[in-house]
Amino acid sequence: MRLFLDTANLAHIRHGIELGVVTGVTTNPSLVSKEGKVDYKALVKEICAVVPGPVSTEVLSLECDGMVDEAHEIVTWAENIAVKIPATTEGLKATSVLAKEGIKVNMTLCFSLNQAILAAQSGAAFVSPFVGRLDDIGENGMDLVVDIVDYLSYYNLPTQVIAASIRHTAHCLSAAKAGAHIATVPYGVLLQMVAHPLTDIGVRRFTDDWNKVMGNAGILPQQ
Ligand code: E4P
Repeated sequence: MRLFLDTANLAHIRHGIELGVVTGVTTNPSLVSKEGKVDYKALVKEICAVVPGPVSTEVLSLECDGMVDEAHEIVTWAENIAVKIPATTEGLKATSVLAKEGIKVNMTLCFSLNQAILAAQSGAAFVSPFVGRLDDIGENGMDLVVDIVDYLSYYNLPTQVIAASIRHTAHCLSAAKAGAHIATVPYGVLLQMVAHPLTDIGVRRFTDDWNKVMGNAGILPQQ
C-alpha cells in the first residue's frame, strides 16, 4: 500500500517526502482553505514540484461542463496532477469525458460500492472511499474499502483505491489488510505510524549501554 499525504500544507508535505515514504498528495477545497487565502494555482504548482507522484486537485464546479473546463486548466499546472471530481451524476459525465482524453481522475466523496462501480466504469484512475466520514454516521467505513477492492480485483479493473478520510493509525492497518492500493493520511497520522514507546525505550537503552562502556567513542574515526 502506497502512502499519500492528505493536506495542502507545504511544510508537512516536504517533511513527508523527506522521510521517503510519501509518494503522492490529496487536497480538497477545505484543506486548501486551511492554508489561508492562497493562490490556488501557485500552491498546487509548488506542491507538484515537491511530490513525485499524483497530486489530487479538486474542481469547484458542480456541472459537467464547468468541471471539464476546470480540469483542462488544472492539468496544465503540472504533469503529475490527478483531477478530483465528486461522485455525482455530473461528476461521472465529466470523468467519462476526461478519462477518454487520458486525464487521470480521482473520484472523490465515494460512500457506496455503487458509486465505486460507476467510478470504475467511467474510467476514473482512482476512487476515494471516505472511511472516517462513514464511521462518523455509525457505518463501518473500512467495509466499503474491502468491498471496492474485492470488486476491482474480481473484474481485474485498473482503477486504484485510495482509502481516504483516515482518522487514526488503525485505519491505516485495516486499509493495508484490505488491499487498498493507497491510503491518504493526515500528517499527524503519518507521524503516529512511526511512533512506538518501545522503540524510544530501546534506542535510549542501546545508547546508555554503549556510553557506559565506550564513553563517547563513535563509529567514525575521531578528527
Ligand atoms: C480525500 O482525498 C479527502 O481529502 C479527505 O480524506 C477527506 O477527509 P476528512 O473526512 O478528514 O475531511
